[in-house]
Amino acid sequence: MKFFIDTADVSAIRKANEMGLVDGVTTNPTLIKKAGRDHEETIREISSFITGPISVETLSLTAEGMLKEADEYLKWGNNIVIKVVMTPEGMKAVKELSKRGIKTNVTLCFTAMQALIAAKAGATYISPFVGRLDDISQYGMDLIRQIRGIYDNYEFETEVLVASVRHPIHILEAAEIGADVVTVPPSTLMQLFNHPLTDSGIKAFLEDAKAFAKG
Ligand code: G3P
Repeated sequence: MKFFIDTADVSAIRKANEMGLVDGVTTNPTLIKKAGRDHEETIREISSFITGPISVETLSLTAEGMLKEADEYLKWGNNIVIKVVMTPEGMKAVKELSKRGIKTNVTLCFTAMQALIAAKAGATYISPFVGRLDDISQYGMDLIRQIRGIYDNYEFETEVLVASVRHPIHILEAAEIGADVVTVPPSTLMQLFNHPLTDSGIKAFLEDAKAFAKG
């Protein structure tokens, strides 16, 4: 399972990348706003040290506008993926971009039928938002299971990219289900390291090493 990092915070991306945990990056308008920097400058900087796919979200609601934005975003790096919203206009744009060999990420997916539509349009990635479904008392990971089953039934190549991840259990279940990618906020990524037995084990080893360590 690939790990993408879900942030536009360049220093957080660098930190995760040093640990070999960044197979790609996903951004959205909220994350760009949070990073507080110029959109283009931020994406260009990420693209200067990340070789994996970087999703950049279009803002237009028309296919024509999305395609125009895509032309611009593609100049910002050689690994840009065009992120579009799950709408009829979005799927028109995905169909055209896919025809041109440009990678796409369909975002704001909340049903298996939306995922089916995106795959038929030729999307490279589908982004089901599990955390936002949990927020409305709908079990988000059920959607991942459904999409995995449907894509496998028909051998769609669209990759299941689990988004709106809020905690390590989302990542564990995504891996168990066989999602292709999980996009993880930096704070959740760091939570994956935690175990009290690791901490106490390190402490005990260091204590015992005092008996023989030189200097
Ligand atoms: O990848 C989409 C993700 O950033 C949305 O997450 O936490 O805003 O639901 P969240």
